Amino acid sequence: MAPTAVNGTGNGTGREHEVLHRAPAPAGVAVPAPPLPADLQAARAALRLALPEPNSKFSQDDEWCVVAEPGGAWGEYRFHDYDRIFQVPGLYEKIFYDVLGCDSPRFMVGLLSEALAQAGVPASTLRVLDLGAGNGIMAEELAAVGVEHAVGVDILTEARDAALRDRPGLYADYQVADLTRLPVGQRETLAGHRLNALTVVAALGFGDIPPAAFRTAYDLVEPDGWVVLTIKDAFLEETDTSGFGGMIGESIRSGALEVVRRERFQHRLATDASPLLYEGIVARKRGALAG
Ligand SMILES: C[S@@+](CC[C@H](N)C(=O)[O-])C[C@H]1O[C@@H](n2cnc3c(N)ncnc32)[C@H](O)[C@@H]1O
Repeated sequence: MAPTAVNGTGNGTGREHEVLHRAPAPAGVAVPAPPLPADLQAARAALRLALPEPNSKFSQDDEWCVVAEPGGAWGEYRFHDYDRIFQVPGLYEKIFYDVLGCDSPRFMVGLLSEALAQAGVPASTLRVLDLGAGNGIMAEELAAVGVEHAVGVDILTEARDAALRDRPGLYADYQVADLTRLPVGQRETLAGHRLNALTVVAALGFGDIPPAAFRTAYDLVEPDGWVVLTIKDAFLEETDTSGFGGMIGESIRSGALEVVRRERFQHRLATDASPLLYEGIVARKRGALAG
């Protein structure tokens, strides 16, 4: 292995400048994002990591980097080892935001905010189920546009622990749950939140959230509720075999999922610096999901 060293200052590599499409700042919204804890910022800035050779190519399931451990050794982290990544304060932000230029939560919340403004719906009326919530970056962005009630759901205890550690107080509730086998008690807890919006950002497919878990979350949202998701475009095609094409793609085609905003955008860079393009969708729930 001959990793390409990446600046450990927390200011990124300059690749962030390659982001293709950013949503404009939401109109008429002036709620400042709550400041991140200073120790998270410091931890993030102090981390040193290195990527594989720039000419090496990995599928999104197999990407990795190495990170300098406190003892001086380099530890390897697969990007899908979220349980290990979340245990290191600032590492998730360092890899995906500082180095690989991810901007998806801010971008998608910007689209949602514009759609709400167009529909005359105050963000403060939303009661959001944030599926695949991770360490809470979506909660931070939602709070910044005026959302007052967000409930996180993630399959990992480490994700909830990281959200409580790094972004305390942003979720009204955070359930660790597998939505393909949701226990009755947790279903009732989630239903009790009277959810009227679902956000699923950077979490569908690629061994993360499967179609059945998305369906469970969708069914928890009230009729005419808001649905915000990012997904690789290939997953929406009729030829898709992941299950998303038949479910989300078909629901869009039938109108059960009424698309309000749809943008192709750069989710982040791959480790070889090529852009990973996703579809960003803001929709209304007008009926049951297909399939
Ligand atoms: C790339 S992170 C995105 C986190 C967050 N949405 C964001 O944008 O910052 C993907 C998250 O999905 C979670 N995840 C993966 N499979 C899941 C599943 N079956 N159910 C719920 N969460 C899942 C992971 O644990 C991880 O926290």
